[in-house]
Amino acid sequence: MPIAEKRLISEHIDQPGYTVDIDCYLKYGGYRDLQKALTMKGPDIVAEVKVSGLRGRGGAGFSCGMKWGFIDPKKNTKPVYLICNADESEPGTFKDRQIIYKDPHQLLEGMAIACYANNVHLAYIYIRGEFVLGAKILEKAIAEAKARRFLGKGIAGTKYDVEIYVHRGAGAYICGEETGLIESLEGKRPYPRIKPPYFPAVLGLYMSPTIVNNVETLCNIKHIVAMGGAAFAKLGTPNNTGTRMLCVSGDVEKPGYFEFEVGALTIGQLINDVCGGIKGGRQLKAVIPGGSSAKVLKAGERYKIKSKKPDGTIEDKEIGLEDIPLDFDTLAATGSMAGSGGIIVMDETRDMVECLSNIAVFYAHESCGQCTPCREGSLWMKKILHRLEHGRGHPDDVGLLKNVADNIAGKTICAFGEACAWPVQSFVVKFKNEFESRALGNGSLLPKKNGLLPVATPKTETV
Ligand SMILES: Cc1cc2nc3c(=O)[nH]c(=O)nc-3n(C[C@H](O)[C@H](O)[C@H](O)COP(=O)(O)O)c2cc1C
Ligand code: SF4
Repeated sequence: MPIAEKRLISEHIDQPGYTVDIDCYLKYGGYRDLQKALTMKGPDIVAEVKVSGLRGRGGAGFSCGMKWGFIDPKKNTKPVYLICNADESEPGTFKDRQIIYKDPHQLLEGMAIACYANNVHLAYIYIRGEFVLGAKILEKAIAEAKARRFLGKGIAGTKYDVEIYVHRGAGAYICGEETGLIESLEGKRPYPRIKPPYFPAVLGLYMSPTIVNNVETLCNIKHIVAMGGAAFAKLGTPNNTGTRMLCVSGDVEKPGYFEFEVGALTIGQLINDVCGGIKGGRQLKAVIPGGSSAKVLKAGERYKIKSKKPDGTIEDKEIGLEDIPLDFDTLAATGSMAGSGGIIVMDETRDMVECLSNIAVFYAHESCGQCTPCREGSLWMKKILHRLEHGRGHPDDVGLLKNVADNIAGKTICAFGEACAWPVQSFVVKFKNEFESRALGNGSLLPKKNGLLPVATPKTETV
């Protein structure tokens, strides 16, 4: 029996007759949670968000309530800003755009509540440059919400003012990193800032306290206000509360986006019960569970995790790839991460050298160039992988690749360093024989089963 989706954020998305117009949103109870929030005190809403256990849906999974708690409205002499991170550039991730394209008012309502809770009067939605239609939809939704007094001066009959502006990026992945985003919003080159001292909550936009949250995170706020933090915390599993929008791509019969309670299903259930199994009845080879920067998980590997028994006690367990529950803590315990919710499935016909080479091209292109290990290292990794892929590998390339990656991770200004090193570190170690075969000039080890031809990874660049 397939596990049922729990559609909280995507409740109305893709429902027949549901549109982006404010009248439709109001018909479905829209902006009621804002009105309820406005009867509460801001700190009480922050307290509810803390109780809810909501963790950020943008990548790091940081506690939303704790992040908000860093801002003390009473101590601030400067204005506080809210930024919605709608850059969504992590390969394999395509959930935020669904919300923006299909339910923009849900995001605006969540943002208006977040503004009120944190004494913010000016907020921005930083949207990825390629989402041209998304930006237009948001502009229209903001105009509609202003016309109905849910945004602008004196929202919903109160004396509280909230303005939200859409700011379009120019299509750079690094603009998704919160401090790079802030630099870009200030009109500068998006060089991430060094932390400390430039934590957004302290020295953010215009050197003022700033909250940066992901689209899905902010949508959750209205649901927390609606049901209360304690009820929200009952969804999902302890420390991994609420629902999560999962984006599945790659070698499954039915890719797409789905919403489940966090940890309610395993990787195997997602692939087999929800996505119709591996394409063409082939075998599972590997899964990247949290966007392309997450470490790859290999079929056949065993992972030691902590699991809660029905009596509440914790036991140590060893499980396989398909038995991993999709929650933040378990995926971290496997050495990978839940990241952005982008789950990339690879079957037995995938050549891991080609796959990693494809990922490396992306990261080499997107490095902002500020730190030497990342700027130079990402390019070296791309070049080494390119020559391995095209039959020009050197015998010591496998060790060299690993060495370059090890010298990037942990040695850079922002977490892009890890984002480009982790795929290399994990692919090269877990699929060592495939990389060594190429390095020694023995070509691909790709299994050919039932006469199937290898499924080639599309080429995006030549060197
Ligand atoms: C290289 C890099 C790219 C990122 N891209 C995104 C992105 O596209 N969208 C996003 O919400 N967060 C992205 N993040 C995470 C943000 O820096 C930040 O942690 C997040 O927006 C905070 O929101 P949350 O707490 O609601 O998850 C990225 C981080 C890094 C290091
Ligand atoms: S790690 Fe890479 S992307 Fe981040 S600041 Fe350094 S060079 Fe730029």
